Amino acid sequence: MDIATIAVIGGSGLYAHLAEAEQLEEHAVDTPYGPPSDAVTVATVGDRRVAFLPRHGRDHRFPPHRIPYRANIWALKELGVRQILAPCAVGGLRADLGPGTFVVPDQLVDRTSGRTQTFYDTGAVHVNFADPYCPTGRAALLAAGAGHGKNAVDGGTMVVVEGPRFSTRAESRAYAAMGGTVINMTGHPEAVLARELALCYSAIALVTDLDAGVEGDHGVTQEEVFRVFGENTEILRKILLDAVSALPVTRSCACGSSLDGIA
Ligand code: ADE
Repeated sequence: MDIATIAVIGGSGLYAHLAEAEQLEEHAVDTPYGPPSDAVTVATVGDRRVAFLPRHGRDHRFPPHRIPYRANIWALKELGVRQILAPCAVGGLRADLGPGTFVVPDQLVDRTSGRTQTFYDTGAVHVNFADPYCPTGRAALLAAGAGHGKNAVDGGTMVVVEGPRFSTRAESRAYAAMGGTVINMTGHPEAVLARELALCYSAIALVTDLDAGVEGDHGVTQEEVFRVFGENTEILRKILLDAVSALPVTRSCACGSSLDGIA
């Protein structure tokens, strides 16, 4: 029996399970890649079993470049998870995407360096990653946002940088010029690792700041990122809960077949 089939990986400021369930189960999972960021909590939401894993740990002990991404995705798969919703804080790379805007990206550009981004260190396993996000998960997130009067931007490219520093103005302008819509530090390798285990993965990005290339004042500060995320935690929780309920029990997307014929 699966312990949970859906997971939410909570970002900065989202450290506890979405459900106000009295009966939260806690699962301390170990993996071949070490322990995940924290124990996974599981609750029943409607008739779905939903796991919650705080990406940075409950006490935010893991900065983006130190998150045990492989252990996190492996642990969720181990519990039976097949669909992952991944909220995160992002900077806007366009002036019209100000703080408080939600974006459900459909593309990703990896600008990280030095992160292990595969489970397959031997043999030929090259997953298709042309469309990095699950279309079904994206649709559920967009519909849930609209249902709460928050029309998320449908599509856009998330540029994922190594961090932990924010970008210079020149870097930021270059990312915008290459077609980036939003920027963050945690979207990769999470997305590809989910694909490598044939899991559905979709992100909902909350813009917490305008990145340095589009704001002309003080640059991005950690204070504004955490403050704006905190201000939007409640609406994000509601959107995620509705998206969870909208996810189909039986998957009809291609995510589940990502390893067919190659592993
Ligand atoms: N996370 C939130 N805002 C960000 C920014 N401007 N750059 C990188 N990561 C971020």
